[in-house]
Amino acid sequence: MKISLLAGAVCLALASCGQQAEVATSYDIIPNPQQIAVCQDAPFRLDKGTRILYSQADSLLEHNAAFLSEYIAQATGYRLETAPLEAGADVEGAIVLSLNDSIADKEGYVLHVSPGKITIDGRTANGVFYGVQALRKSIPAQAPDNAILLPAATIQDAPRFAYRGMHLDVCRHFFPVEFVKRYIDLLALHNMNVFHWHLTDDQGWRIEIKKYPKLTEVGSMRSRTVIGRNSGEYDNTPHGGYYTQEQAREIVEYARQRYITVIPEVDLPGHMLAALAAYPELGCTGGPYEVCPEWGVFEDVLCIGNDNTLLFLEGVMNEITDIFPSEYIHIGGDEVPRTRWEQCPKCQKRIRDEHLKSDKEHSAEDRLQSYCMKRMADYLAAKGRKVIGWDEILEGDIPADATVMSWRGSAGGIEAAQMGHDVVMVPNNYCYFDYYQSLDTEHEPFAIGGYVPVDHVYSFEPTASLTDEQKKHILGAQANLWTEYIPTTEYAEYMVLPRMAALAEVQWTQPERKDYDDFLARLNHLVRFYQRDGYNYAKHVFPADSTNVGVVR
Ligand code: ACM
Ligand code: ZN
Repeated sequence: MKISLLAGAVCLALASCGQQAEVATSYDIIPNPQQIAVCQDAPFRLDKGTRILYSQADSLLEHNAAFLSEYIAQATGYRLETAPLEAGADVEGAIVLSLNDSIADKEGYVLHVSPGKITIDGRTANGVFYGVQALRKSIPAQAPDNAILLPAATIQDAPRFAYRGMHLDVCRHFFPVEFVKRYIDLLALHNMNVFHWHLTDDQGWRIEIKKYPKLTEVGSMRSRTVIGRNSGEYDNTPHGGYYTQEQAREIVEYARQRYITVIPEVDLPGHMLAALAAYPELGCTGGPYEVCPEWGVFEDVLCIGNDNTLLFLEGVMNEITDIFPSEYIHIGGDEVPRTRWEQCPKCQKRIRDEHLKSDKEHSAEDRLQSYCMKRMADYLAAKGRKVIGWDEILEGDIPADATVMSWRGSAGGIEAAQMGHDVVMVPNNYCYFDYYQSLDTEHEPFAIGGYVPVDHVYSFEPTASLTDEQKKHILGAQANLWTEYIPTTEYAEYMVLPRMAALAEVQWTQPERKDYDDFLARLNHLVRFYQRDGYNYAKHVFPADSTNVGVVR
């Protein structure tokens, strides 16, 4: 296995009079750090008297200290005192958090454990946060009241990719604010730094837009939901929900404190039936439309010939950019049938007026989609933002500095990188966590299809088939959780765990440090955190405990 001296060993030494019992631990963490050097010195003893000191050079370090104290309390039940580090102060027996310019990577850290103290250095507070994550994952998830013996060691670490994301579709099924925070906690636990929040779709509009109140008054509620895979039968139960702007800001802040950026997605110009139900005049036919009770791709999309549609999108983006400070805004672009545009006089006029021409590869309507995406990219660029779109935005004229999210396999991402665009890899064959994770689908909760088991996620190589120059355009990777067939929070957890752990290592760990068997051994440790915090995780990779309980079918 690994270099750690005490891998997996948890030895309890009985307390001598009045002292805490001791638990020895190791650095068998996920994602695997780039370098762990354990030495023969005595371990550091973390106990109730340990203090967490933070240098005052960066006020964020105070937050990191508070997080560490809280994490240790979750494991041990005791809460360590945190305090600013005074110049010349005695740091014996303390955990010291500091900034250190000599660390090259913005998110890198050095965790140094010696008998007398622990130091966590980062170039930035982000890096220190990942050092804090490493330390908290090195401590047993549950060690009530114990002192912890941490082997003397130096961990030098930095992420492989700058973009390490997880997506959540809250449109097909709505999830409450508390769950979104719980999901963000999982991102932090797995060293991820982007939460891609899919906020609008045919089956529900989930974000309050004050200029267009009917988006949520009408568009956030569907009257019924189809049973199974578009069976033609419905549950006749209304389903809905949305986030107020205040709640969305609360999520953004919750994520920010954990060094996670929320990238909102307004999926346009397709997947817009919920918006069309609210404002039918924005569609080519004028409706009527219904907040969609089925799953799939629908012909009714926004009318790009109508100036009011573009004004609508700008109005929506004004508020979205106000709520979400992210550099990137996701503008969707996936699965947009051209059928309505082909028949719509307004769209055809736009095609003529803008001289949008078909050629061997693209129809004039493809160009109309590009026109729409470019209008939005330009509008957002004027606000200092960049756009991400699904790989369909390659079909036509892709906005100049758009980032491509490659979902239909990796081909679109490879093509985009070859064209010099930045790319986030989310190929469905590795990164769609709504797919089954077992071939024994009869004993699984109902899912959309596909097969993406944990080892397959682990084997994903985001830069495969690219030259060194093109590899620079791969910002990172992300997994998506589409929720057509995921109506409950327990089921959502089941679908992401433990596949998120495998993804974390794809995103963070250099390929030469990856080893699936070693990962599985370390996963035994990480799942204790899932257990402690009551997350519902899939158990296929744990042969001794292979019954998947607690899942709503
Ligand atoms: C997608 O899965 N339609 C991006
Ligand atoms: Zn039209």
